[in-house]
Amino acid sequence: MDSFLVSGPSSLKGRVKISGSKNSALPIIFSALLTGDKCEISNVPDLADIKSAGDILSYCGKKCSFFSGKFSCEEKSPIKTEAPYDMVRKMRASALIAGPMLARFSKVKFALPGGCAIGVRPIDIHLDAFSKMGAKVTFEGGYVIMETKGLKPAKINFKFPSVGATENVMMAAALVKGETVIYNAAREPEISDLAQVLNKMGAQVEGAGEEVIRISGKTQLNGFSHEIIHDRIEAGTFLIAACALKSPIEIYGAKKEHLSILFRKLKLSGAQFEEFEDKILVKPPQKIKPVSISTGPYPLFPTDLQAQWMAYMTLAEGNCKIKENIFENRFMHAAELMRMGAKIELKGGEAKIFGPVNLSAAPVMASDLRAGAALIIAAMAAQGKSLIKRVYHIDRGYEKIEEKLFSMGADIKRIKE
Ligand code: UD1
Repeated sequence: MDSFLVSGPSSLKGRVKISGSKNSALPIIFSALLTGDKCEISNVPDLADIKSAGDILSYCGKKCSFFSGKFSCEEKSPIKTEAPYDMVRKMRASALIAGPMLARFSKVKFALPGGCAIGVRPIDIHLDAFSKMGAKVTFEGGYVIMETKGLKPAKINFKFPSVGATENVMMAAALVKGETVIYNAAREPEISDLAQVLNKMGAQVEGAGEEVIRISGKTQLNGFSHEIIHDRIEAGTFLIAACALKSPIEIYGAKKEHLSILFRKLKLSGAQFEEFEDKILVKPPQKIKPVSISTGPYPLFPTDLQAQWMAYMTLAEGNCKIKENIFENRFMHAAELMRMGAKIELKGGEAKIFGPVNLSAAPVMASDLRAGAALIIAAMAAQGKSLIKRVYHIDRGYEKIEEKLFSMGADIKRIKE
């Protein structure tokens, strides 16, 4: 288990290039299961989660290669229609094999993903949708088994706009003849990226990015070649870090329209931005103003930037509140930030942050991916040397984060254990 040793306070300068989106790449990699043809995906970030997705596809019988941001896979038959526990426990998004497998092979068996540090994370919305499409769902020994005599198109009303369920159902419906409609669908940019891929494969997906998505499926889909969109959460993390460290930096590859709410909140905190065709110039606040946030499904404030915002607000000149509405247990970073001197009160799904404090270095532990990113921001702002443990969480979702920050002037190094 590697750690990061971060000496602060540091400031950042120069530029950073944003990597491809992990959350977009994962479903698109799994959509290769919908076809026997070759699929080629570029701008894929080199992350532990991408390797896990590749391992699952290889286990199922695909021949995959991943080199220099290019992921490609071809089919070696026969395909195994299951994902074992040891693979699924490494990455919850493995449940995304369900839609493609069920639609193409009429059966799938995969380990129930279970909970994780940020919450219980059930998959009932996915399973309810598949039963509506004609799958028989059973559970055995920690596994979900689904079988069908042939999926049929359906009108599905989600009780919550789940990102994973929207993607799973879109992929399945792409290979079912007729029109499937998802109401209350997730609207994240990653959904639109997947829709583009399914359209390239021969399906007809309309309404991605809106609340109602209509998928007209085909009985056979072809291979595709696709470039993944940039990672809005990585971009948001660098934007927040730049403002927290009062560092004017340039961010390449970020799409401002994918982060409208973050820009609004950062402006309220005193930051300004200059937009160019290929980059965004961050002009950080001189004095950070406190700004409350409340997380929600896109286009509301992303839960995946909540921890980083909390680290930022410990430095603000006043008090604010953070309300977490997506995951029930996503405040584990608060206790670690308090070990660095932050003043935070937690009550239910709400945190009150009392700023400003002078953060001081401490040994801390990343409890999940985004909590880890928040601790890096705090450690760069804090006086002294902080050791951040369990960086394998951070490696799941940030490509070469320590190299990117080091090249911008941060004093951060990986300690191998
Ligand atoms: C995706 C993202 C993750 C992000 C999250 C919310 C990927 C690989 N991961 O996760 O980074 O934090 O969206 O923006 O894209 N829920 C149910 N039943 C279900 C499915 C979800 O109750 O069947 C609940 C979850 O427990 C959670 C909420 O809905 O409280 C959001 O989950 P969902 O949108 O499905 O997130 P993921 O797709 O797992």
